[in-house]
Amino acid sequence: MLSYRHAFHAGNHADVLKHAVQAFILESLCAKDKGYSYIDTHSGAGGYTLSHEWTQKKAEYQGGIARLWHEQEEWPQLAGYFAAIKAMNPGDGLEHYPGSPLVAAHFQRQQDRVNLMELHHNEVELLRQNLAGDGVAIHHRDGFEGLVGLLPPTPKRGLVLIDPPYELKEDYQRVATTLQKAYKRWPIGIYSVWYPLLAKAVDRSEGLKAALAGLGFEQVLCAELRVQAQADDFGMHGSGMVVLNPPWKLDEKLAGLLPSLSQTLAQDEQAGFTLEWLK
Ligand SMILES: C[S@@+](CC[C@H](N)C(=O)[O-])C[C@H]1O[C@@H](n2cnc3c(N)ncnc32)[C@H](O)[C@@H]1O
Repeated sequence: MLSYRHAFHAGNHADVLKHAVQAFILESLCAKDKGYSYIDTHSGAGGYTLSHEWTQKKAEYQGGIARLWHEQEEWPQLAGYFAAIKAMNPGDGLEHYPGSPLVAAHFQRQQDRVNLMELHHNEVELLRQNLAGDGVAIHHRDGFEGLVGLLPPTPKRGLVLIDPPYELKEDYQRVATTLQKAYKRWPIGIYSVWYPLLAKAVDRSEGLKAALAGLGFEQVLCAELRVQAQADDFGMHGSGMVVLNPPWKLDEKLAGLLPSLSQTLAQDEQAGFTLEWLK
């Protein structure tokens, strides 16, 4: 039974980190004319209306993208990410926010291919409504199994985003076992994995990072953004992105972004960031 709906969290601090990293990687892929493949294993609805009652319930975007949106000139390095948001917001306001599929669609050129997977039947319907274009394939299926089935993709270079809800503890294990299979079929792909930083009693991020570092990929980069102190029992105080086979200079781009981003998104004095090579 799937209960997670991303509309409740659209545009929050975790989305800012995830989609900024996604945009950096897609910009690198777009630097060459040669086409690339983009595969999203957990796509969600594709895009979100911020006035929707689910999104308004906690208005998490207020602590995320809304803190950056009206000072875009202060963030020249995020121009590509902002352009993807702007594509949904023709006026000056911020009424809509793109999910990872619409960020990908913004960068997609004629020669690129986008594969989107989503298991929830309502979310996949929304995804179909939000993304209808040439070169986009939408699959109503399990993203872990689906990813292995799609590899190696054509075009043969590209990016996979793995962004599960982690409501099920098995998701952590499935990320690692799926990437182990993916590495055998497509060792040259760029893989990015989002994960939450949770309260002490329930956090599993260290185990996940250790598993990803041991898979065989030669370079494994990890960026974490913490917006508040870690609680003892429950709550998410930040999130991380592990990038396996990161593109050239991604580490430098993140080193330039994370100090100011963690200050701008801080909710208390424990906010901060970590940027490290796991391998
Ligand atoms: C965190 S949301 C994705 C958000 C999206 N990547 C973005 O950045 O806009 C996770 C999504 O995964 C879906 N999901 C959960 N388990 C899945 C599975 N095994 N395969 C594919 N999708 C799944 C959920 O329905 C939910 O829509």
